[in-house]
Amino acid sequence: MTIKNRVILVTGSAKRVGKCIALTLAEKGANVIVNYNTSEKEAQGVTEEIKKFGVKSIAIRANVSKADEVKSMIEQIVKEFGYLHILVNNAAVFFKTPFETLSEKDWDINIDINLKGTFLCSKYVADIMLKQKEGKIINIGDWSGIRPYTNYIPYCVSKAGVIALTKALAKTLAPDIQVNCILPGPIILPEDFSEKEREQIISDVPLKKMGSPDDIAATAAFLIEGSDFITGGMYAVDGGRLIS
Ligand SMILES: NC(=O)c1ccc[n+]([C@@H]2O[C@H](COP(=O)([O-])OP(=O)(O)OC[C@H]3O[C@@H](n4cnc5c(N)ncnc54)[C@H](OP(=O)(O)O)[C@@H]3O)[C@@H](O)[C@H]2O)c1
Repeated sequence: MTIKNRVILVTGSAKRVGKCIALTLAEKGANVIVNYNTSEKEAQGVTEEIKKFGVKSIAIRANVSKADEVKSMIEQIVKEFGYLHILVNNAAVFFKTPFETLSEKDWDINIDINLKGTFLCSKYVADIMLKQKEGKIINIGDWSGIRPYTNYIPYCVSKAGVIALTKALAKTLAPDIQVNCILPGPIILPEDFSEKEREQIISDVPLKKMGSPDDIAATAAFLIEGSDFITGGMYAVDGGRLIS
């Protein structure tokens, strides 16, 4: 599938990794919808950057964990663009949940946004893609969905769910729609991580460095334009973290 002239929704793309994916795909000629939840100003800024590539872009607020908000976002996209060819499920939360203080609320937030949000966006977008008889869904998982780390149980479980969901959707939506999952390693750490934590993380990575958002965006671009014979796949972009 080509990227040029496609209509692409990237969830949670006002900042950080999602923003880089949105800009990379726009630079390759796609019309990109920037979804956000709270970062309206940043999302509008990304649409302005995207438009400089000569493509269309709008920002839409929707909490991906709410079915009615996701449904109305998808309806708005189809109304304005006519099609929706590619969905990148990037929106997520990531915060420490030590076992001793882990609450039901922590559990629900992680599962609702990271897993149910990925499901809801995929469900409503797939309904459109099935009618179009083409489409690609790229889920942003995490290597920790395969090898969970401590202090983040609900997050790791949500990302394990995203891996299972990727495989289930790939089977369900074949042959017209391809569904794949990228498993990033450390790319951009949360702002509250110390320099010591950063050094420890880098030393655990066989390639001895952090990844960059460009590594994730390039992999997303590859899954769109590199081959149409890939579905149900997991792509670790983790500096070898999974094999360490
Ligand atoms: N950063 C890394 O090193 C790393 C490593 C492994 C995996 N990943 C995965 O890669 C993806 C991007 O990582 P990141 O660090 O850039 O993510 P992030 O900064 O933690 O979150 C990205 C965006 O998700 C949005 N979001 C959160 N809850 C939402 C909701 N209910 N509805 C809609 N949007 C919501 C936020 O939008 P608003 O700001 O608008 O609220 C936020 O800007 C995530 O799936 C993450 O799990 C990242």
